[in-house]
Amino acid sequence: MVMATENTTVKGVIARSKGAPVEVVDVIVPPPGPGEAVVDVSTCGVCHTDVAYRDGDINDDYPFLLGHEATGTVSEIGEGVTHVAVGDHVVLNWRAVCGQCRACRRGEPWYCFDTHNAATPMTLSDGTALTPALGIGAFAEKTLVHALQCTKVDPELDDAAAGLIGCGVMAGFGAAVNTGAVTRGDSVAVIGCGGVGDAAIAGAVLAGATTVIAVDTVASKLEVARRFGATDLVDASQTDPVEAIRALTGGNGADVVVDAVGIPATYRQAFYARDLAGTVVLVGVPDQEATVELPLIDVFGRGGALKSSWYGDCLPERDFPMIASLALQGRFPLQEFVTERVGLGDVEEAIASAADGKVLRSVVVI
Ligand SMILES: NC(=O)c1ccc[n+]([C@@H]2O[C@H](COP(=O)([O-])OP(=O)(O)OC[C@H]3O[C@@H](n4cnc5c(N)ncnc54)[C@H](O)[C@@H]3O)[C@@H](O)[C@H]2O)c1
Ligand SMILES: [Zn+2]
Ligand SMILES: [Zn+2]
Repeated sequence: MVMATENTTVKGVIARSKGAPVEVVDVIVPPPGPGEAVVDVSTCGVCHTDVAYRDGDINDDYPFLLGHEATGTVSEIGEGVTHVAVGDHVVLNWRAVCGQCRACRRGEPWYCFDTHNAATPMTLSDGTALTPALGIGAFAEKTLVHALQCTKVDPELDDAAAGLIGCGVMAGFGAAVNTGAVTRGDSVAVIGCGGVGDAAIAGAVLAGATTVIAVDTVASKLEVARRFGATDLVDASQTDPVEAIRALTGGNGADVVVDAVGIPATYRQAFYARDLAGTVVLVGVPDQEATVELPLIDVFGRGGALKSSWYGDCLPERDFPMIASLALQGRFPLQEFVTERVGLGDVEEAIASAADGKVLRSVVVI
């Protein structure tokens, strides 16, 4: 065990206040407390949630240390840590389950209501405590997390791709495979073909869906979705997606419809584009004000399940190594999610590209 006793000063990317561009600043990383680990970050993808943190859409706990789709190497561990060792190659997760809460105790730990994060704060050089995005904060040379937030994966994987398992890819894959329980022969429609939607498409293909319909309002996004295995493409800027999905499924609608946009219009489409007794999975994150009104008789009469999917209902220790293995075997196109590699100084620009939906993922290489 390596027990460090001193603070380390590293470069990190923060959002200081609402409306301000992100900044690269000195971040003080304290030595890990009991149960904690310091990770030398090697890559961190830019996710939509970083955009939401910068813009104050998650909460007002500025300053935020951004970044949460990361890989790295454990460089220090705190007292009592046995789960990882110094030198382990890990993907960071934002669901370190507690094992004690009512969800964990009833055998559904992917809903854990009390996940672990580091208790020791990272700070600015003046001592101001930082709020790490999703309890991670990995647009930084080092970050301090709870040791259970470190999931070991095969170091043979390209780091830039592996880090994406830590959020967007897992959320999309799990929305189809875990939450939607897509299985052999299913028809699936995915509305919104960004990184999350494309991961849902690839997950549905892997699970054996025979009809996989990609829906987007941007033609170039649909071409990319085809590379992830979509069997049919629907341009929602040209045609009514509900009618198109029904037409592609014998007039019935799809067994599972994944809404990877998360606005009232796409949720309504998902609701009506599924077959009777079908499943809607909401994985796109709605903004605070969004509301949706549906005839209650349709909610009742159409049956089935209306579900939401946080983090693809994943268990990192179970699901990250599985996706990594599938990627190494050439059965899951993880590498395809990496659009570009950028530096720590390029995060503001990369966030703008993520906000515009121009890229699947920009990955910061540290
Ligand atoms: N639930 C989770 O745990 C979780 C995790 C990560 C991200 N997310 C959320 O998932 C959503 C998607 O993330 P992403 O990284 O793929 O974003 P993205 O911007 O890369 O992709 C969104 C896609 O939706 C398309 N789109 C926009 N409006 C549309 C419409 N009306 N109809 C059809 N398509 C439309 C865009 O053209 C784009 O291709 C975001 O809301 C993000 O916050 C959720
Ligand atoms: Zn729990
Ligand atoms: Zn994310």
